[in-house]
Order: sequence, then C-alpha cells, then structure tokens
Amino acid sequence: MIGVNPLSFLYKRILRPVLFRFDPETVHGLAVAWLKVLGAPGIRSVVGAATSVNDPALNSTVAGITFPSPVGLAAGFDKDGEALPGLEALGFGFLEAGTLTPRPQPGNDRPRLFRFPLAEAIVNRMGFNNAGATSVAARFAARAPTLGVPLGFNIGKNKTTPNERAAEDYLACLEALFPYADFFVVNVSSPNTPGLRDLQAPSEMEPLMKALSVKAAALAAAAKKPAPPLFIKISPDEDVAEATVDIALRTGFAGIVASNTTRSREGLPPEAPAEGGMSGRPLFAKSTDLLRRLHRASKGKLTLVGVGGVSSARDAYEKILAGASLVEVYTGFIYQGPLFVRDLHRGLRDLLRKDGFRSVQDAVGRDA
Ligand SMILES: Cc1cc2nc3c(=O)[nH]c(=O)nc-3n(C[C@H](O)[C@H](O)[C@H](O)COP(=O)(O)O)c2cc1C
Repeated sequence: MIGVNPLSFLYKRILRPVLFRFDPETVHGLAVAWLKVLGAPGIRSVVGAATSVNDPALNSTVAGITFPSPVGLAAGFDKDGEALPGLEALGFGFLEAGTLTPRPQPGNDRPRLFRFPLAEAIVNRMGFNNAGATSVAARFAARAPTLGVPLGFNIGKNKTTPNERAAEDYLACLEALFPYADFFVVNVSSPNTPGLRDLQAPSEMEPLMKALSVKAAALAAAAKKPAPPLFIKISPDEDVAEATVDIALRTGFAGIVASNTTRSREGLPPEAPAEGGMSGRPLFAKSTDLLRRLHRASKGKLTLVGVGGVSSARDAYEKILAGASLVEVYTGFIYQGPLFVRDLHRGLRDLLRKDGFRSVQDAVGRDA
C-alpha cells in the first residue's frame, strides 16, 4: 500500500485549494507555464530522477512501439505540444498532443471549462482551441523537443469544415505532423465540434480511416521508415464498439482509444452545464465497460488504450485487466497533482507483483 506522501498532501490540502479558487483556464495556463520550466535542461533531469519508477514489469512493446511505462497523458492537456519535456519529467510513459486541426481556431466562448471537485469530474466544451497543425509542425521543424518517450498526435477537423470534406482536414494534419509522430489518434468523438460524432457512423468512418491508412503508408514509404500506428478515438455514448473494431481491422489501424468524454451528467450536481463533455471519476465505469466490449470483439488483434476516470493505480490496473495495453489520464492528473503518475506506476508495479504477473502485457484482458 502507498502511505500518505508529504508532497501529495501538500498539493491536495494546500496548493490545490488555492489554485481551485481561480478560473480553471487561468490555472491551466499557469500549469503549462510551470511545466515549461520543469522541462528546461538541468531541471528536467532532477525532476525525472524523483518521479521515475524504473521497473521492467512496466515496459512493453505494443503496436510496434516500445513504451517505458503504460501510463500516458490523454489528449487535450497539451494541445499544441508546448510543454512536452516537462510532462515527460513527471514520469509519463508516453504523451498525446492535440487535438490539432489543420488551421488554428479559437474554440468556443468562455467559460468553457468547469470543475466539480466533490465528484472529481470536469465538464469541458473547449471546442478544439489550438494553434493549428501547420504552425505546430513549423515550430517542431525549427526545434523539435527531444523526448525519451513516444509522442502521438491527436488530429481532428476545423469547425468550419463540413463533414463531407472532413477527410481533407485529417489528411492535412497527418501529413504536416508525420515527421514528428510516433503514432496518431484520429478523433471522431469530441462532443464539442458540431456533427463530429456523426463521423463514427460506419459509412463515414470506414472511408475516412481507409484514406488515412493509405496516406500514412505512402508517407512512410517516401520517408523510408515504418508507417506510424493509427488509432481511432471513440465516444462512450454511441453504440459503436463492435463496428469500430471491424473497421479498424479492415483498414489496417493499430487500435482504438476508449474513450472520449461523455454527454451524460450522471454523478454531477443539477447545476452542471448541459453543453460539453464530462470526464473524471463518474466516467470510469462507462469507459471501462466499453473497453471490455472492445477487447471481446477484437480478440487481441488490436491495441486498446483505456482512458476515462482513472484516479488511482487500482483504476489503471482495472483498465489493463479489462483489455487496455496502455492507459491515459487527464482529469485524475488535475485532481491528484504532479506526483500522480509516479504514484500510479508504484501502485501498478505492486498490483502486478501481488497477482503474480511478470509484466503489464501478461495482465492485459485477464478479466474481460
Ligand atoms: C479540458 C479537456 C480538454 C480535452 N480535450 C480533448 C481533445 O482536444 N481531444 C481529445 O481527443 N480529447 C480531449 N479530452 C478528453 C480526454 O483526452 C479524455 O479522453 C477524457 O477526459 C477522459 O479521461 P479522464 O477522465 O482521465 O479525463 C479533453 C478532456 C478535458 C478534460
């Protein structure tokens, strides 16, 4: 068992109550600024030494990529990939930047981010505020961050692009970010871009994923390197699990990320805003059930990434037992603080050991 850590205590009892008095987006901006400092050479290695949990049981190679640990950062926290070295220093085993759209866009009007501390939940209706894939690619071309962990880009479409032309946007993002990506996540499940989830319908999804898969193979052949694995990120609200598995297998996708935020408000007080997606603890059961269904339908042929409501090592372990080879966190990181990833790794290592698993990979899907 993990005892009460003085730094975690400091965050939860002192720093968090102060931060939570301010507007959530202001605090997010502060966190990103602070992470940029943590990522500076010199500071980064000191922080990294304090947060790393080097245990071979946590290493794995999935979808052709070697991951030092199965716990990564979910999309949306560092949309423009501005603070990646600092995030790596906190111990993440991989990072997902984005969602990026081809052109920059401001996102929805504020307020658009709401905390519910008693429920350990967040409602957001950010609407893909981002600098644009082209400008992020230009920044990386000038000076790409050096990272020791895999980096994925989550890609989407601009709000003004009609769904009939969505493929052009996704393809443009894929092409711009290709040189810097270890993997891609195709986001067809944000509730905050009108009509985006319609792209989950099989008749829309299959040609889109096929086009992306063909493009990734062509870019890889031209660059004389292996094609990056592609993942589809789905919603927990529409009944798309089995159809998505079939499409992923037919179009050569590596796997599925489950899940995005939910439109449900179960577990939140009545004053919670109606518009937006809910994340955090109340999403855990729903997103984990979806994972179990995906695992059953894919029979080990796809790599599954479990995300939604992970707030402890036991939650992360449950996702792995339900079929996830990789786990991502966002809201739990906000509520648990900067040592969250280290605590997840320590807890996971102990849980694997207790159940007699030699590695994460041995535990994947064992209760599905
Ligand atoms: C403020 C906020 C912004 C998000 N932005 C994105 C995004 O741009 N793209 C995306 O695919 N998911 C986005 N997500 C969803 C998360 O990646 C994740 O799927 C979801 O929050 C569930 O995980 P959690 O309960 O650990 O937060 C966002 C979540 C939050 C809270």
